[in-house]
Amino acid sequence: ARTAAVIPAAGRGVRLGPGAPKALRTLGGTPMLIHAVRAMAASRAVSLVVVVAPPDGAAEVKSLLADHSLPERTDFLVVPGGGTRQESVRAGIDALPPDVTTVLVHDAARPLVPVDTVDAVVETVAAGAPAVVPALPLADTVKEVEPAAERGAPEPVVATPVRARLRAVQTPQGFDRDVLVRAHEAVDLNGEGATDDAGMVEQLGLPVVVVPGHEEAFKVTRPLDLVLAEAVLARRRK
Ligand code: CTP
Ligand code: MG
Repeated sequence: ARTAAVIPAAGRGVRLGPGAPKALRTLGGTPMLIHAVRAMAASRAVSLVVVVAPPDGAAEVKSLLADHSLPERTDFLVVPGGGTRQESVRAGIDALPPDVTTVLVHDAARPLVPVDTVDAVVETVAAGAPAVVPALPLADTVKEVEPAAERGAPEPVVATPVRARLRAVQTPQGFDRDVLVRAHEAVDLNGEGATDDAGMVEQLGLPVVVVPGHEEAFKVTRPLDLVLAEAVLARRRK
């Protein structure tokens, strides 16, 4: 019985703007992916990290891992990703050795998640939950709209969910391996694919639970997120 972390890092980072693939961009001089790998390897429970590299970037990612200090007790694998996050996660799952029983799926784009959050997810899976998601309450009220056909046109509001019942989900999401494999086998690979692995488990009709997430587990998506990430790193280094 072993716990592995799969890190999808194959995205281009379109919303961040032009440049290298998002996971290879640096924060405090170190590639975002290396921060994310260290965040997973920091958990004593995680003995294997599978990095899902940009489709043509596996060699580059392997040399990045070789060039940075990482815990000796952790094993690393690098596999090429796919065109959607869902396909990339699937590629990572397919590379897992047979003795892995618990799987964390963690976005490379969440480089600063604290180890306590990782451990809380692992412990909740170990206690018997088939799928566990770290999440936070929302600051903003959320509206469901009927999306406009043309950009910028006013959009009719359809509903206002009660904010106190909503959670913004983060990663690492933790799974019993067999449950995650079944979810990826059952859900269609169409269009954009699923952006959330736990959602695929829900579609199987299996229970998913939420544990407290962390502010610093935010996803680097847009340019302003890079500013915040640099500030968090600078504060940690003080
Ligand atoms: N991801 C992946 N393979 C893809 C698309 C996304 O492995 N084909 C990964 C990203 O590298 C990232 C995580 O999924 O670590 C979350 O996705 P997101 O934040 O959307 O990253 P990108 O898809 O790279 O960004 P964008 O949507 O702005 O292009
Ligand atoms: Mg994306």
